[in-house]
Amino acid sequence: MTFKTLDDMNLRGKVVLTRVDVNVPVEDGRVTDTTRIDRIVPTIRDLRAAGARTVLLAHFGRPKGKVVPDMSLRQIVPALSEGLGVEVGFADGDYGDAVGRMQDGDVLLFENVRFNPGEEADDEGFARRLASVGDIYCNDAFSAAHRAHATTHALARLLPSCAGRSMEAELTALEAALGTPKPPVAAVVGGAKVSTKLDLLSNLVTRVQHLIIGGGMANTFLAAQGIEVRKSLCEHDLLDTARQIAAKAETAGCAILLPRDVVVAAEFRADPPTRTVKVEDVPEGHMILDAGPDSVAHIRTVLDGCATLVWNGPLGAFEMTPFDAATTAAARHAAALTRSGDLISVAGGGDTVAALRHAGVVDDFTYISTAGGAFLEWMEGKTLPGVAALSQ
Ligand code: 3PG
Repeated sequence: MTFKTLDDMNLRGKVVLTRVDVNVPVEDGRVTDTTRIDRIVPTIRDLRAAGARTVLLAHFGRPKGKVVPDMSLRQIVPALSEGLGVEVGFADGDYGDAVGRMQDGDVLLFENVRFNPGEEADDEGFARRLASVGDIYCNDAFSAAHRAHATTHALARLLPSCAGRSMEAELTALEAALGTPKPPVAAVVGGAKVSTKLDLLSNLVTRVQHLIIGGGMANTFLAAQGIEVRKSLCEHDLLDTARQIAAKAETAGCAILLPRDVVVAAEFRADPPTRTVKVEDVPEGHMILDAGPDSVAHIRTVLDGCATLVWNGPLGAFEMTPFDAATTAAARHAAALTRSGDLISVAGGGDTVAALRHAGVVDDFTYISTAGGAFLEWMEGKTLPGVAALSQ
């Protein structure tokens, strides 16, 4: 796809309505993870350097078209000012007035766009009101691009539009991982349930040469092969679906890699007594909580032979020791291959970033997406409305 970037726009003195995703975790009024703020720094820096007047449009939480004081964006202004290195103004009333007072280089944040019912309705009238105070629309919020909302979608049709730096980086990385990747390509897909990732698995088997399945969803695939998974998390009603995905993979020439050995325990808690057994030998009263060392060795060998990796979801119950072992070992191996220039590695989705951070490798992957739902929909092969609206 082709889209304009900041380099294609004449920005001096222009009011640039910039959609960002600063839907960051906040506890007791303090931002506890600034990753999403850090990601928009290059865009704001370049807008300011070019003499633009930057108006930030963003959502926070899901207020459903009502004013919910707890979801005011005002509370993140200090963290935003600190992260962006500029005093960020805030406007929750007359936007025209506030914009009229801006000087070149200023940054102004509008109140939570989801306080207005027009946002989620992708309402043209709401988008027009916003467009009337701006000259250019810039979308730097890939992680909100799966929503067809007024500030991610309708607005792009009303003003000259471009992608911000973070959107640009995200789309370039995603294109390199699944659009036109260097083969062979491996995908790691983990997480609890097959049911939440059906579309994703169905799409991936036609796009990658190796599909490494881990986490609870691997149990459903194992059970579909007749393996007794005992007390393990398993969607027994989806065994046929798992078989269909396996058949589709075979037709497409995609090798599905399931655990060969697993770490089991009788209880789901941190540091219980554990055993490592072959998948065929899960003892009565036990549950699978991680992939075993033989499985990890197998994953390593597959990754050694691949040029591209896309990763979503942990291989085990990584939030509890010792069930973080397989995820951490595989992530570190992928990171080492990336560092040596042998692998292009792209990861994303809620738990994934936490798992890779836990493994200490977030800076070693080629690209880590901060998107949750948008990353999943992209892996499902869906067109994201916010991205489509930018393309020419
Ligand atoms: C996210 O946190 O994934 C994005 O900000 C999108 O939020 P939403 O799921 O409420 O649209």
